[in-house]
Formats: sequence, structure tokens, C-alpha cells
Amino acid sequence: MQQTDFARTLIDWYQRHRRELPWRDTVDPYKIWLSEIILQQTRVAQGLPYYLRFLEAFPDVHRLAAAPIGAVLRLWQGLGYYSRARNLHACARAVVEKHGGQFPCHFEALKSLPGIGPYTAAAVASFAFKQPVAVVDGNVFRVLARIFGFEQDTAAPAARAFFFEKANALLDPQHPELFNQALMEFGALHCTPRNPGCADCVFQTRCLAHRYNLQQTLPVKGKKQKVRHRHFNYLVLNWKKKLLMHTRDAPDIWRGLNEFWLVETRRAVGWDGLRPHLLKLPAAATNGNPVSCHDFRHLLSHQVLHIRFYQLELKKEWKKLPPGFRWHTARSVDQLAKPIILTRYLETIGYLKASA
Ligand code: ADE
Repeated sequence: MQQTDFARTLIDWYQRHRRELPWRDTVDPYKIWLSEIILQQTRVAQGLPYYLRFLEAFPDVHRLAAAPIGAVLRLWQGLGYYSRARNLHACARAVVEKHGGQFPCHFEALKSLPGIGPYTAAAVASFAFKQPVAVVDGNVFRVLARIFGFEQDTAAPAARAFFFEKANALLDPQHPELFNQALMEFGALHCTPRNPGCADCVFQTRCLAHRYNLQQTLPVKGKKQKVRHRHFNYLVLNWKKKLLMHTRDAPDIWRGLNEFWLVETRRAVGWDGLRPHLLKLPAAATNGNPVSCHDFRHLLSHQVLHIRFYQLELKKEWKKLPPGFRWHTARSVDQLAKPIILTRYLETIGYLKASA
């Protein structure tokens, strides 16, 4: 299929089927960048309220750059993968400090900003500045692999370069913004992973996957990364309705978020199995039995967290707290940025009001 034929068919489909989304009504690179970072993390329906809340709190890059990181993490709460939120903030600062508050318009300059990879750089360069550079995401892999019968393993490191080259060769240089939106929208709405709409597809007569019935085989995806199981035992120390918390600062999941006293074990252990790990805590908290115990399972992209929360009541204030720990009132616990699973737990025990 010719480049012009492919691009024309695709853009024509897009103009008839596109969803009206707020970030498509703008050429403001800040709004486009913000939407793309959020949409890397979640689907459109879930991402939309986050996008609107971020714009309300931080209407421009200067406001985001000037915000404390805790406020950014708090707004990001629930999206997961918090390094994206930290990079969002770092990127806003870099745009203000190094580029006078203006996003650069070139792909390479965009790519050198924190948290901006080739996908986001191409999205911002093309949507905001009409630069002729192709976006490559999971939708693009799928659409191109099926229509053109590409059998490259999309999980392999070399795949991105291969699909980037192919997508750039197909790109409409007059309308790169429409072409890119169209390719992603076609993958999101029509050429979907499980049930592609082959019966009424504009590429039906030209699609190799359709011709050879390879829709379920293409795109080829290699082995998934192994899932790691982790066992988190949280000790929720409670004194006069205050909770003991600290900010995670290790280079691990949830860095910058707040949590209770954590004992991570190699396997599931009961309360008695935890005793050897409790020596740093006041004996008054750990000698008796916990007031309550709740189990949760939390899935991250490559980790399964088996989380057990033990609620422990102190009769006397623990004054000489270990470094980083503080007592927080319910109000302050509510305000703190914390992993969503901790919020769910606190709602379960009635400590925080369940959000609507
Ligand atoms: N997913 C990622 N980017 C998107 C966009 N610009 N519009 C709709 N869905 C998307």
C-alpha cells in the first residue's frame, strides 16, 4: 500500500470516528504533554478527571513547576507508578529553568527532558508543533503489525526502532498531528487487541492479518517479565487516633509516598513470625495482640503485593521516634500523598471517610 493511500484512508476514518477529547482541542504543548503523561498510565475514561484536576490546580507549566512535590503526588494518587509524577514535576521545572517556560518544539530537544521518551516527544512535537515525526505506542505496534504483517517481536528492544521507521515512512508530512492521532485512535477503537472490527474495516481488503487470519497472532509479543511476589506487613501504630507514618525514600516503588511502619518478609508470616522484626518498636505496642488485622492484594505492573495491616494501639506516646517518622492526625493522614491501597485500608477500618 502506498504511503498516501494508507494515510488518506486512516485520516478519513479518524475524521468520521474520532472521540472529542479536551486535549485534542488545543495546540498548547503543556496541556498536550500533561494529557500524554496521564494517558500513558491509564485509559481515557479514568485519565480524564485527573487531567481536568491537574489543569485546575496547575493551569500552566509555571504553576506546576512552583508546586511542592507532595501536592503533585497527591493529585496523581490512584494512577500508580509514581516515578511518572515525579518526572512530571521535574520536567515542568526543567521547562521553566532551561527553556524560559516554553516547551521546545523539536523531537530531540523534547526527548532530553525528564520523563519524556520517544513516544511523548513525538506526540508533543506533532500535536502542538506539527513536526513530522511518528508516535509509536502499543496501538501503533498492533495496527502496523496486522495491516502490513510485521512479525517482529514487539517486546524486543529493537522493535521500537523498526516500527518507528515504518510509521515515519507512512506519516503524512502535511498533517502529522492528524496522522498520529488517527493511528492511535484506530488502534484504540477499531483494531483492538481481542475483537478487532475486521468486518467493517477500511483496510479490510489490504490487511495481511485479515487475509491470513492472523489477528490473534499479530502483533507478536515475546515473553512477559516475571512477576515478583512481595509480602508487606504494615504495623499501623496508633496513639490517641494519630498514626505513625514516614515518607518512603528508597529507590523502590512508591518513593516519596507516605506509609506506616513496614516489615517486608520473604514469605507470608503470621504475627508470631514477625516478632523477631519488632525489636525497634516499643514493647508496649508489640507485646499484646494487634487490635485488628486486614489483608489486601495489590497488583502493580510486575509485582504482586501481599499486604497485611496490623493495627496496634499505644497507651503512652512514643516520643523518641526513629528518623523520619511522625505522628499524624486523621486530617493530615488524609492530606498526605500515599499509595492508594493505604487509603483503601484506612477507609475499610473507618479511619478515613470513603470517597465517592
Ligand atoms: N492515548 C494516548 N494518547 C492519546 C490521545 N492523544 N488521545 C486519546 N488516547 C490517547
